[in-house]
Amino acid sequence: MTQPRIQLKNVTKSYGSKTVLNNLNLHLGDAEMVALLGPSGCGKSTTLKVLAGLEHSDSGEILVDGKNISKVPTRKRKMGIVFQAYSLFPHMTAKDNVGYGLRIRGTDTAARRKRAEELLELVGLSEHMDKFPVQMSGGQQQRVALARALAISPELLLLDEPLSALDAKVRSQLRDEIRRIQLSEGISTLLVTHDQEEALVMADRIGVMNAGIIEQIGTPSELYHQPKSAFISEFVGVVNRLPGILHDGHIHVLGSSLFVTNEHQFASGDTAVALVRPEEIEVNADPAGKHVVLNKQLRGIFTSVTLTGPERSPIRVDMSSRNAEALQIGEPASLRIQRDDTVIGSPTKKESESLMEYQEEIL
Ligand SMILES: Nc1ncnc2c1ncn2[C@@H]1O[C@H](COP(=O)(O)OP(=O)(O)O)[C@@H](O)[C@H]1O
Ligand SMILES: [Mg+2]
Repeated sequence: MTQPRIQLKNVTKSYGSKTVLNNLNLHLGDAEMVALLGPSGCGKSTTLKVLAGLEHSDSGEILVDGKNISKVPTRKRKMGIVFQAYSLFPHMTAKDNVGYGLRIRGTDTAARRKRAEELLELVGLSEHMDKFPVQMSGGQQQRVALARALAISPELLLLDEPLSALDAKVRSQLRDEIRRIQLSEGISTLLVTHDQEEALVMADRIGVMNAGIIEQIGTPSELYHQPKSAFISEFVGVVNRLPGILHDGHIHVLGSSLFVTNEHQFASGDTAVALVRPEEIEVNADPAGKHVVLNKQLRGIFTSVTLTGPERSPIRVDMSSRNAEALQIGEPASLRIQRDDTVIGSPTKKESESLMEYQEEIL
């Protein structure tokens, strides 16, 4: 492997007695976008602040092109940062906001103006260069913030939930646009988000954080299809929780015996829940089926079908809207899982109890 552009090595950070980053390791390749995804409070923003030099780690190293920059002050690190919202200087126009980083670095007025104009054009704001933040929408302000971060030609772009204050439509537009600009500029980028969809569509790799560590890092497809733990499976996407008994490295659910990929986290004979995604189950109308169609929700190209059966708790299946036309509410159906392995998690008390009740019915 070529040397990574940016590397965090064994980084630890505590606030008082609370360990927020626990021996964290992470690298970013040249022009790569890595998303840090995780629940609130897991240490995402702290990771970003340590990279930017806004916070200091207690131990560990931060390397840029192999050089340790842990002791370099923030303004000497070449990093562009975009925060959630409202971070523009209110008394400066868009153009002056974008030129700010260059001004404090001593770039002359003419060069600064030219660079600011180029970047505002890149983010589609040529018409709004002389506006103040209050005169712009939230989406426009975040574009200015992005242009400001890029103006200094940073070695690393740091984005801390840059879209979370925007409404859904603007958010998905800006998502595509940020990714397009990041690719065209070829800039290594760390995107912090708690929105799994955002991470899946934007990033080259996603690191899922939990309590100060990265629990799994990989491509969107690896995380979605081969999660290493129940936490990852449930955090990245939707799953059905299907109770069963772990036996011989397998779990028996919905008439299939599935190979358990995270068996080492459990003991044989344990009650567990297989975590199966809605699109990994096939439904067929079947007079002899053990399940009944409860509801159908047309969501566009796919339809979510809810079924009940001996398991008691409803099962969600996502299928093409065309095929869902063949299923009638109230009619029986049979289910089949379309993969032969699964990750399992710990059941709730209620899930264990319901398994005891229906086990006899399904065996
Ligand atoms: N300056 C601080 N002083 C004390 N605790 C902090 C400080 N900043 C963050 N924390 C705590 O560190 C943990 C991680 O915070 P943060 O990195 O902001 O999480 P995230 O961005 O994933 O939501 C949280 O429990 C938070 O309360
Ligand atoms: Mg945060």
